[in-house]
Amino acid sequence: MKAIYLTGFMGAGKTTIGEELAKQLQLPVIDTDQQIERNLNKSIREIFEQHGEQYFRNQETRILKELPTTDTIITTGGGIVINSENRDWMKNNGQVVLLNADLDTIYERVHKDPNRPIASKKNKAELIDLYQSRVEFYKDCTFIVETAHKNIDEIVNEISERL
Ligand code: S3P
Repeated sequence: MKAIYLTGFMGAGKTTIGEELAKQLQLPVIDTDQQIERNLNKSIREIFEQHGEQYFRNQETRILKELPTTDTIITTGGGIVINSENRDWMKNNGQVVLLNADLDTIYERVHKDPNRPIASKKNKAELIDLYQSRVEFYKDCTFIVETAHKNIDEIVNEISERL
């Protein structure tokens, strides 16, 4: 089976859903942010503070291309789609599943999280602007799963039925 890439805005549930989907499909799951943190031995927050966003984006692209492209679930950072090279890589190497959540839920989940430097300093309007600026990139996917008002099992079942 080709790789399964879970994409979506911050707080959409990619990491949680990825772990549950991995159990159901009995596949390994790898998270791009966790890989970057492990490689650099720094948290996402420290990477942004010490090296800046562009450095993080370069790491993100490099990691994406190093990861297996078969029999693996890959959960991605919410900004991976802004780089067309990353979008092309994911489409060419697997199925890209967009997890979509409503912005109220997302805001509540992410706006105070210090390890989400892109979101922690933004107010709601700014976060919505960021989402809007990315929405076309997110839609460039194999299929979309709405996560609002569904429990984890329902979301995981829906993904595995549509793969
Ligand atoms: C980012 C999302 C984060 C992380 C980094 C940048 C973004 O991942 O990669 O803070 O630009 O949307 P999550 O989507 O897992 O929060």
